[in-house]
Amino acid sequence: QSGVIITGSGSATPATVLNNQSFSQLVDTSDEWIRSRTGIGSRRLATTAESLSSIASAAGREAIAMAGITPAEIDLILLATSSADDLFGSACQVQARLGASNAVAFDLTAACSGFVFGMVTAAQYIRTGVYQNVLLIGADVLSRWVDWEDRRTCVLFGDGAGAVVMQADKRDRLLGFELKSDGTENHCLNLSYQGNPKQLMDGVEVTQGTYQPITMNGKEVYRFAVQRVPEVIDKALFRANLTVDNIDWLLLHQANQRILDAVADRLKIPARKVISNLAHYGNTSAASIPLALDEAVRQGQVQPNHIIAASGFGAGLTWGAAIFQW
Ligand code: ACO
Repeated sequence: QSGVIITGSGSATPATVLNNQSFSQLVDTSDEWIRSRTGIGSRRLATTAESLSSIASAAGREAIAMAGITPAEIDLILLATSSADDLFGSACQVQARLGASNAVAFDLTAACSGFVFGMVTAAQYIRTGVYQNVLLIGADVLSRWVDWEDRRTCVLFGDGAGAVVMQADKRDRLLGFELKSDGTENHCLNLSYQGNPKQLMDGVEVTQGTYQPITMNGKEVYRFAVQRVPEVIDKALFRANLTVDNIDWLLLHQANQRILDAVADRLKIPARKVISNLAHYGNTSAASIPLALDEAVRQGQVQPNHIIAASGFGAGLTWGAAIFQW
């Protein structure tokens, strides 16, 4: 049985910056409200020049370069996203853009938990010896699905992509994980399909419609995250035979600074060990963890052998933690 190591990271964000002040043109809000409730100062916005596949591919290209391999050596591309350019999946579009002609490619949807779920999925393929080189990308353009008239949600999200290359090795650096789902709380956060009935033929009615903008019960999501995230991190640490004292970095899904602070507080992890780039990117859903990781790696915060506790949480509801060594 093979071990898993992470050999490269990359990220890409759209060029357009939307700061909090701009929102006063759209809804009744203020920089002060957004900043104090969420920690967000600005976010990136995909315009017509960019697509989910374009930013996902750019992030993937960087990760492949850092890993020191070629696109042709990638065996599997996993694209964690809830906002594919094509509902049939965008992983193959990414494969074509990268020229990763030997890779099998598919999408994985687990909302803001997608990257952590993807990391665990990739590790299973590697550990069983099926694949050696996996490109895992987390990318979302939720700006396409935000209700720009709903101030409770439109200020929270941003667009972006992040990626890692995971490879087979004698060492095993995915030290522990725990994944969870609870569909009974699905109503808390949705981007749901709604169709109108259409009489197709006698006695057969189908629906025809589209996806509706994001709806969220902010308070319930907040309570869920603050309670459940520390539990899965504790469980993943236990499986890794580690304690919170062994963690160099806490890397949570970048949803809201108050959630980051509350989770760190519950786990008794000091603020200096908490990675946060919310102020510049907002909540980029499946992209937020690899985007923040890549920045922390390139800025020299995350160093070789550092131990990172990553946790994603979001719609589904889904949540999970992965403890890995850089
Ligand atoms: N500007 C000004 N006022 C606002 C805004 C805004 N952008 N948004 C909401 N308000 C108002 C509301 O309308 C409400 O006013 P009212 O009392 O007159 O009706 C008031 O502020 C309080 O609204 P709440 O929704 O109760 O605000 P709350 O204090 O709960 O903060 C927030 C909202 C920041 C969304 C909070 O609930 C939160 O952080 N929740 C977690 C949400 C989250 O992180 N979701 C994403 C995670 S999952 C994923 O990533 C997909």
